[in-house]
Amino acid sequence: MPAAAQDAAAGDPMRGRQIARVCAACHGINGIAKNPDAANLAGQDGGYLVRQLVAFRSGDRKNDTMSLIAAGMTDSQIEDVSAYFAAIKIQVTSVPGQ
Ligand code: HEC
Repeated sequence: MPAAAQDAAAGDPMRGRQIARVCAACHGINGIAKNPDAANLAGQDGGYLVRQLVAFRSGDRKNDTMSLIAAGMTDSQIEDVSAYFAAIKIQVTSVPGQ
């Protein structure tokens, strides 16, 4: 496994917040998606976010928009933005009656 861009724990969430401005139109600056085709990223596992961005960048996962965006990202940008979205606290309320 390559050492690069695997570890959101290595990322800096404050630097990631600056990068997240690029993502905000679709994913929301707080990670709650504004675009129904884009996923909520708030509170998502950081390692999962890193893996998806690496997969978009390498072509293992394909999406017209995300492949283009990830193609321009460095390993540390991927780690930083993943650390930022992973650090957002979300609260979940179960479906009543379940
Ligand atoms: C123009 C809209 C747009 C922008 C801007 C955008 N995304 Fe996305 N993103 C999408 C869409 C649409 C998908 C769903 C892709 C798919 O269906 O595979 C997605 C998917 C993702 C996923 C996978 C989510 C999952 O649950 O598997 C990640 C991670 C992600 N985006 C991160 C980012 C980051 C980080 C940025 C900013 C650097 C960004 N995106 C910018 C539209 C966007």
